[in-house]
Amino acid sequence: MQLSLFPILGLIPLSLAAPSAGAGSWSAAYAKASAAVAKLNITEKVGIVTGVGWQKGNCVGNTSPAPSIGYRAPCLMDSPLGVRYAQGVTAFPAGIQAASTWDRTLINERGTAMGQEVRGLGVNVLLGPVCGPLGKNARGGRNWEGFSPDPYLAGIAMQETINGIQGAGGQACAKHYIGNEQELNRGSMSANIGDRTLHELYLWPFADAVKANVASVMCSYNKVNGTYSCENKHTMTEVLKGELGFKGYIMSDWNAQTTTINSANSGLDMSMPGDDYSGIPSHIYWGPKLVASVENGSVPESRLNNMAERILASWYYVGQDKNYPLDTFDAWNNGTGGPDVQDDHKVVARAIARDGIVLLKNDDKVLPLHKPKSLAIVGYDAITNPDGPNACTDRNCDNGTLAMGWGSGTDQFPYLVSPLDAIQAQASKDNTKLVLSTSNDVSAGGNAAKQADMALVFINADSGEGYITVEGNAGDRNDLNPWNNGNELVAAVAAVNKKTIVVIHSVGPLILESILSNKNVVGIVWAGIPGQETGNGLADVLHGSTSPSGKLPYTIAKQPSDYGTDIVPGDDNYPEGLYIDYRHFDKAGITPRYEFGFGLSYTSFSFSRLSVRSSATSGPTHGSTAPGGPSDLYSTVATVTAQVKNTGKVTGAEVAQLYIDLPSSAPDHPPKQLRGFDKLQLRPGQTGTATYELRKKDLSYWDVASQKWVVPKGTFKVYIGASSRNIKLTGSLTVH
Ligand code: BGC
Repeated sequence: MQLSLFPILGLIPLSLAAPSAGAGSWSAAYAKASAAVAKLNITEKVGIVTGVGWQKGNCVGNTSPAPSIGYRAPCLMDSPLGVRYAQGVTAFPAGIQAASTWDRTLINERGTAMGQEVRGLGVNVLLGPVCGPLGKNARGGRNWEGFSPDPYLAGIAMQETINGIQGAGGQACAKHYIGNEQELNRGSMSANIGDRTLHELYLWPFADAVKANVASVMCSYNKVNGTYSCENKHTMTEVLKGELGFKGYIMSDWNAQTTTINSANSGLDMSMPGDDYSGIPSHIYWGPKLVASVENGSVPESRLNNMAERILASWYYVGQDKNYPLDTFDAWNNGTGGPDVQDDHKVVARAIARDGIVLLKNDDKVLPLHKPKSLAIVGYDAITNPDGPNACTDRNCDNGTLAMGWGSGTDQFPYLVSPLDAIQAQASKDNTKLVLSTSNDVSAGGNAAKQADMALVFINADSGEGYITVEGNAGDRNDLNPWNNGNELVAAVAAVNKKTIVVIHSVGPLILESILSNKNVVGIVWAGIPGQETGNGLADVLHGSTSPSGKLPYTIAKQPSDYGTDIVPGDDNYPEGLYIDYRHFDKAGITPRYEFGFGLSYTSFSFSRLSVRSSATSGPTHGSTAPGGPSDLYSTVATVTAQVKNTGKVTGAEVAQLYIDLPSSAPDHPPKQLRGFDKLQLRPGQTGTATYELRKKDLSYWDVASQKWVVPKGTFKVYIGASSRNIKLTGSLTVH
């Protein structure tokens, strides 16, 4: 029997034939975990749930081994864009860039590549992906680590990333749970979020993460409705473990735990890093104090067993009990000592750097470049930091081109292909003369621009985690302007060059009105936060070897106040409720500068033949709890298709987006909500079919009174568009 399978195996890709990593079964994992936990004493179990202390292991987080059950001390490492504090790793594009591609396959491939690096290094847990912050505040310092303020887009990206990481054998960690929407006062402020808003916005992508069987979740620094997130029984035990059926374990953000007994009894499963960075033994909340609390009955031993079971079950679930590589690197010695795990991951890094680029403006088809005779390159954002791409610890500076933000959400660049590097390579092929001014000196920039037929001005805006302040920005951005005179630099160039193209690397939205007021700014390329392959990805688009196909994963407003949300100094009562980003602009009738989902192409597309087939019935969900929530919440209840045709002259990809408007029987709701997207790569003249499988979840609202998802009765509008405001087809779906 075995032999007869070989010819078939020969036909399938090697990766499928390899011993399966990940994709286990929770019931099998729990059977092993509870048998193992039964063999352990209280001290051993506490060792599994308590970090060994900051910088006391070789990783950013470590717990103790349990040799009697073959459990090695696991290694936990940042970050959401690659393994931090290691050498020989890929610096992937940030989450926000992955989301800008709207390409499920690329997002999944990025996750897989990260998982392979995690496994290759013997890291057990990668501390990512991020959907908290979701991004309700445009200035939020860590938004770029995550995906999008739209919960559907963020949820799909969480799912694909987790499937990738865990499919390759790593454990993923969905963070930061929940309401971590700003860096300012993150350790003291309370995110006061209404139940419906929690479910329909901030919890939504975490639910998709749980549905994807994420192994761990990190509770955040902030309070939620007055109680610290890592001490919060409602959010941890009732919502995440109860309602969403989360099977993995909850770890604290680093030093986000504030008590011994309450955190344990509220649902925290792992204390990280185990101390408060001080190394003072009495500052350790768990460890010996948890042993004593279990022995004196303040924490039931069943709770401790459950913590250990959850941690071990996750380890079994992804298959790390079998032949998992040993970690040999030392995070605290420049990450040296491990193997090089980059493999060919620069391929997916480049594809995302390229396909996440959003073309915002392209007057008279100034792009792609057609071998210009001369080209001025202006701005420090065009070059690598002269001191090297890793010169600033945790990228805590904005010198040179911006390819990641700062803080724990970073890793070491193995190399950085700057925009200038890649443009120079093409220029020598095209015989283009480059005139350089690679600083933000306004008059030097103008002088360079005068001497060339066209000018590319590079500007940026950075942000990061609040333990670092860069140029006066304490994590969150001070404003929505480009850094270091970016607007003035553009004005100086545009004053002397009729073909000025602005390339922007930014962690999030900028106000572009000043830039747009220069009539000589004929092109704007929104190049995002692209990682190590930034220059190559950009050159692919500038020179037209690939048509741009990214779409904005957030709204670009005309003025900051148009967002209707902002960082607050004290507690945040979330008065805007469901209305963040485009939901707010649509509801309030505010015209954005560039709307959510917007992005130009070098070709054009037409849309036709909308078809909606639905089997949805009204009423609440009723399935038993499975990972992600009630089991029927994720079943497909409608299938929508539409035809998209490439009507232009070059190959390109269109992201056909599906938005719904709930029927009038539903409570107050946003006019449009993204509930599907399909990216189609099409040759000139080619037609493709965009297909959307709507889950019950996608047609539901959260009913606070019954504490259930409910599909409302009546007629849903179904919109298919090239953006949230460029709707091409309208249909409907009626639910009885
Ligand atoms: C961050 C987490 C990170 C942890 C470990 C914290 O400051 O909020 O995202 O995983 O540090 O570095």
